[in-house]
This record gives sequence, C-alpha cells and structure tokens, in this order.
Amino acid sequence: MAILFDMDKRIFYLHTKNSTYQMQADKHGYLLHLYYGKRLDAPMDYMLTFFDRGFSGNPYDADRDRTYSPDVLPQEFPVLGTGDYRNVAFKVREDNGCYGCDLRYEGFRISEGKYALPGLPAVYAEKADTLEILLKDARLGLEVYLMYGVIEENDIITRSVRVENVSGSRVYLEKVSGACLDFLYGQYDLITFYGRHAMERNLQRMEIGHGRQSVGSSRGCSSHQYNPFVILADAHATESMGECYGASFVYSGNFSAEAEKDQFGQTRFVMGLSEEQFSYPLSKGECFYAPEVILSYSGEGLNTLSDHFHQCVKKHICRGRYRDQIRPVLVNSWEACYFDFDGDAIVELAEQAAELGVEMVVLDDGWFGHREDDNSSLGDWEVNERKLGCTLAQLSQRIQEKGVRFGLWIEPEMVSEDSDLYRNHPEWAIAIPGKKPVRARNQLVLDFANPIVVQYIYEKISAVLKQARIDYIKWDMNRSLSDIYSGNTKEQGKVLYDYMLGVYSLLERLTTEFPDILWEGCSGGGGRFDMGMLYYTPQIWCSDNTDAIDRVYIQYGTSFGYPLTAMGSHVSAVPNHQTGRVTDLGTRGVAAMTGAFGYELDLRKLTDVEKNQVREQVARYKQVAPLLYDGRYYRLSNPFQEEFGAWIVVDREKKTALLSVVLLERHGNMPVIYVKLQGLSSDAKYREQDTGRVFSGAALMAYGMPITLKYGEYQSCQILLEKIESN
Ligand code: GLA
Repeated sequence: MAILFDMDKRIFYLHTKNSTYQMQADKHGYLLHLYYGKRLDAPMDYMLTFFDRGFSGNPYDADRDRTYSPDVLPQEFPVLGTGDYRNVAFKVREDNGCYGCDLRYEGFRISEGKYALPGLPAVYAEKADTLEILLKDARLGLEVYLMYGVIEENDIITRSVRVENVSGSRVYLEKVSGACLDFLYGQYDLITFYGRHAMERNLQRMEIGHGRQSVGSSRGCSSHQYNPFVILADAHATESMGECYGASFVYSGNFSAEAEKDQFGQTRFVMGLSEEQFSYPLSKGECFYAPEVILSYSGEGLNTLSDHFHQCVKKHICRGRYRDQIRPVLVNSWEACYFDFDGDAIVELAEQAAELGVEMVVLDDGWFGHREDDNSSLGDWEVNERKLGCTLAQLSQRIQEKGVRFGLWIEPEMVSEDSDLYRNHPEWAIAIPGKKPVRARNQLVLDFANPIVVQYIYEKISAVLKQARIDYIKWDMNRSLSDIYSGNTKEQGKVLYDYMLGVYSLLERLTTEFPDILWEGCSGGGGRFDMGMLYYTPQIWCSDNTDAIDRVYIQYGTSFGYPLTAMGSHVSAVPNHQTGRVTDLGTRGVAAMTGAFGYELDLRKLTDVEKNQVREQVARYKQVAPLLYDGRYYRLSNPFQEEFGAWIVVDREKKTALLSVVLLERHGNMPVIYVKLQGLSSDAKYREQDTGRVFSGAALMAYGMPITLKYGEYQSCQILLEKIESN
C-alpha cells in the first residue's frame, strides 16, 4: 500500500517510487503539511517549530498558547477565516457576506484504485491508491474531502477536493484550489510557460520572492498566454540535477497558479480554479468537485520531472484506441488551400498523399453552411454539398478509394451571427442582456453551461459523423470567452465552470460513441493545450505557427509538461505563412518529427525533387515513430539561450536513439556546435545509421559529439544511433 497512516502521530504518508508526501492532523484538528520530497519513512513532524510571533493570531481553542498560529504553520488546505493571512486555497462566502470557514480534521478513508471526478477529466490508473481526508466546518454544515491519488510506479500524486453542504444554509464557494504546497524554507524558482497566439509556451524562470507571483487565465480556456503547467525548482536545479516539483491542472478553463514567499521565508504554492468570475452557490445537499492537480517530484532535475509527466499523459490521461497507437501521417487542407477548395481538390490532395505515403487527408474549416471565410456559418453543421460537389459520404469514399483515410474539422462551441442557428436562437450565444458582446474572429460562444444547447450540438455533430466514414476529427475553439452570462441560471458565478462541464460532457459523449475516430484538440493552435483536453483528445495542434524555427522554441517549452505524442506538428510551405521565413524541407521535417507528424501544405504544388524528399521523410518517420512514441525524451539545449535546438529520444532499452539538431541562428565563422548526449548506455557502442561511424555511449555522454551542418541558415541534422555491442 502506497498510503500509510500512523495512528499515534496522526501522520499520513503517501509513498511513490521516489517520493514521499506527508501531512499530520494535529492536536487542534488542523491538517498540517509536513513534507513533500525524496522518498523517506521517517516522520517529519519534528520540523514543526512553535514561537510566539507578532501579529500571527491563535485559534481560540489553543487557549493561551501564543506559539500556535495557522499563519505560520505549514497548511495542507489553507482557508480564509482561520487567521492564516497568506494566500489560501479555499474561500467560502456566507449569504450575509462573512468569510469565516474553519475546517477541522474529522477522519479519513484509504481505498484501492484511483478516485474519479464526475463530469471532469482526471488521472486514471489500474494500480493506484486513494486517500480521502474529511475536514469539517460544523457551524456551516460543510464537509470538505481532500482527495489524493497515488500512482506509485509513476511518481505521481494527484489532488482534488469535494465540498458538500450537508446541513447548512446556502454558501458561495469563491475559491477552491485543488492543491497547495507549503515549504518551510529554501529558495525556489517558478518556471512558467507564457506565450501568445502562434507563439505558445515560452519558458520563464523567476525567483520566488516576497509578494505574490502568479500566472493564470480568465479567458474561459486555459489559454495561449499561460499554460496550466508550472514547475517549482530549487534555485540550483538543472535538467539533470536538483529538486523540482511539477504541477499540472487537469482542466481547460480558467486557472490560477500562485507562489509566494511569506514573512518568514516560507514558500507557498497554490493551484486551481481562478477566482475571477467564480462564485459557486452550494445549497444544502449539493456538492462541488474541484478539478484535479497532478503533482510530481524529481530529485534528479527537470528532465526526470518531465518524464514523469510524459508517462502520466501517455498512460493515465489519454484514453481510447489511439492512446498507444502510432497515429497516421496526415495532410491538413488548412494551409494547403484555406477556404478555397472543392471536393475534387480534396480528392486530388488524397491522390498525391497516397503517392507519398501520407495516410490521411484532413478537410479543415469551410465545408459547412455557406462558410467561404471566417465570418459565417459556425453552428450550422450541415455539409455544403454544393461546394464539395458531392455528399460527405461520397467524398470520404472517393478519398478512401485512393487508400487514404479521411478527417474533418469542427468547432462545436461557437456560433456565427450569420448562421441559421443564431438567427433561430440568439439567446444560445453567451452575451449579457442589454450589452453588445465582445466579438472575436467575428464569432460568439455558445452557452455550453446550458445542457439544451449541448444536446443540440451533439445531435448536429453526431449526425455529421454518421454520414460518412470519418477517421479523425480536429476539435477547434477559436476565441476566448467574454460577457459571461447564461440565461439558464440565476447564478452567473457558476457559468464558467458549468461551461467546461458542458464541453467535457460533449467530448465524453462523442469520443465514447465514436471510439474509432482519432480526436485532435485545437484552439487557434495551442490555446487549450492542457491535461483536461488530453483526456479526450490524445493529441493537440501545438500551435498555429508552423515555422520550423519557431516550432523548436514552442515544442521545447511544451516538452516540459507534455510528451511528443501529444504535439500535433506539421511540415508546411515556405515562405512560412506565419513568419515569412524560408527554411529547407529537411529542417521542416526534423522540427515536425514529433509523435503526431503530418503536412500542412498543398502536396500537389511540390516539385518532383521535393516529392522524393517527402517520401523519404514519411518513410523515416514511420521507421522512428515507435521510438518517438515510447522512448525517453531529453532536451539537450535551451533554444532561448543557445544558437541551436537539440534533443534526443532514446528507447527504454537504450538500443536506439534519434538525435535532432536545428540551427537557429547563423553567424560568420561560427564555433562548432558540440552536443552532449543523454540517456545512452555507458557501456555500449553505438553506430550512426547513415554514416556507419561508431561511438562509445560513455564518450557521447561525457564529452559529446561535434555537429557538422551544411552551409546556410537554419540547417539541421537528424542522427539515428543504434547500439552494437556491450562490454
Ligand atoms: C484555427 C486552427 C487552424 C485552422 C483554423 C480554421 O486557427 O488553429 O489550424 O483549423 O482555425 O479556421
């Protein structure tokens, strides 16, 4: 059992292979956080210290003991109202405006298996254990269950919270954060992934100081701007050394990740739902679930931490048939022809795809309603047969006759004002009565907090999916939410959360009903790249930016919390449509060769030489795909600090490895690039497949390899190494 309880000391131990998490229900019934770090069995309550501190109050039941203060002691689930003036994880407003919740320990339950969260995505695992700790506020009649899932093998601990109003009058939940971590001392950095549309997940590493540092989203989606994955790293931690903690929010809506060093140099980290526009009413008999936070600890630096999250996504978040399957190489029509296509053009694309080994054609935006640009028809999920020149079934059949599979784009959560749906049901769009809503991409958001709207969209989309053989769906979401109001409720503080439940319910229903479809998430590229979406769609379009050089940065940042298999990545045309940059086809292939590889250009326009190159690229990808899917990924350079991007994927047996290097900046008379490899076997030799050169694994890891690149900008290389002997 990975979860133990010491009855005398009332200490809980959560053990994973390499980490231990401890907390204690103390004499006053407060649940104190004792420890999270390297695996150990010793009780850590000796670390608690008690001093009389000025202006840190004492609970009434501590009597005259001025040395006991929730303001100073490490808290497992800090609440507003107990005299802990730091950032808290839980805020409850009573009907009269008071904030006086006081949660005390009541009991616990340990069970086998991993808890699930109704209506919400969450980690699942066959081999896992669950701990539920009950905290209670008797005056408010509130029961709060802190839930912990322990996946020992993968060094993963999950946290969530269930709040039940068992006997009280109505209260409003104003903040419910799934996770809080208190550190007694130490200097930590907060690593976050910021960005913008078409340039997501850049890395920022900042020392945690006094004053709250936070990232989050109030856009109704997890956002391009800040990813809901962050790392707390010891100030000295590097890729391969030092202590670090990762936290990933399994949710696709508003979030907040907050870190603060307090008056005594203690660090608190809180992650969960954003407080903005959140005020969830809870009447007697009602219950609320906070989305889950996945935590992991590594004592061996950032790379090991990333591997924990990669494994977690691959084995415990993604589901369905494609979870472990190598995904088809696809060509997407978006950058190939945007809205300018007919059925014949798509069939020709399929024909060309078949010749080059590309396995699927995806018909992106523009196939429904009268959508000829991005100003109309969202919500009218009727096939535009006039444009296609045939039915969807006929189109898919014509494509399949070429030996190529067929995929389609949808954007279910949106509505255009120029649509029959909006004309018939303007009240289904999210907008505040009497106020003109903010438009974005000239579209509005449907009220998915209203189950009737979700049901309607379900019927329309499932009717499309039944019309033809469709092997893939790209689920897009192309604006942030604003003007939050649902005609379906009197409590607008619930809408953003209920909206996400609506989205998840539709995803669950469609992915269950159409299990053979490969689902890809998308939100203007990576605007909703999070664990919540990955629970339904095993891959997400990483960015609308397909520029090979920018992708090196974007994929580098993404790799800290997500595996290659999750990143949709395509080779596109040059000059690149987002940056105007010209890179050669080889480099575009190297950059795009992640777990979910494809093309985003008009294959028909390639020259014969380029077609041969594409054929070779596809063949190479198919050769290395098993390695990319199951191998261990190491970042070998930091593109934000170096002139090149370098990474390697090594299979778990250390028999093959694929090294990729992309030159980001070219200067005159440049120094040679040397790359130190990682993850190889130090007592083995490796042969470079293309040249036959033989290297010692130990040498490659100790002193590296000189990388020789062709003359010119943005050159790259990909080196496949195969183990040949063991000493
Ligand atoms: C978004 C997506 C693109 C494409 C367009 C279609 O921007 O990220 O890949 O599908 O929508 O409108």
